[in-house]
Amino acid sequence: MVVAGGSGFIGSHLCEALLARGHRVLDLDDHSTGRVSNVAHLRDNDRFVLLEGDVTDEDIEGRVAAVIGRNKKDKKTKRSKRTKNKKK
Ligand SMILES: NC(=O)c1ccc[n+]([C@@H]2O[C@H](COP(=O)([O-])OP(=O)(O)OC[C@H]3O[C@@H](n4cnc5c(N)ncnc54)[C@H](O)[C@@H]3O)[C@@H](O)[C@H]2O)c1
Repeated sequence: MVVAGGSGFIGSHLCEALLARGHRVLDLDDHSTGRVSNVAHLRDNDRFVLLEGDVTDEDIEGRVAAVIGRNKKDKKTKRSKRTKNKKK
């Protein structure tokens, strides 16, 4: 799920609620009024990603897709490293 304004007052609570329901969450925020500190407690969650950007930017779709793709790749790498370590 992409939460535009996820670092804001309402958005940060929405991010929390979606994570609690098992969703993967991308917080897209330009931090014009919201703060990173509102979502600091979520940043260790593997299912949470923060992307700083303006939702009205022309290239935002590509940036979101790139972050989602990169995150999936990181998870696969972590998983395969864990599997390799178990086999040793
Ligand atoms: N403790 C409290 O009770 C408390 C605290 C803060 C706010 N409030 C109230 O909550 C309401 C405001 O909350 P909110 O969540 O609607 O506002 P907010 O400003 O907290 O959240 C909006 C978020 O959207 C982001 N944003 C704005 N334009 C953007 C864009 N183009 N692209 C990407 N991100 C963008 C902002 O950076 C911000 O993080 C007000 O009524 C306020 O008085 C209450």
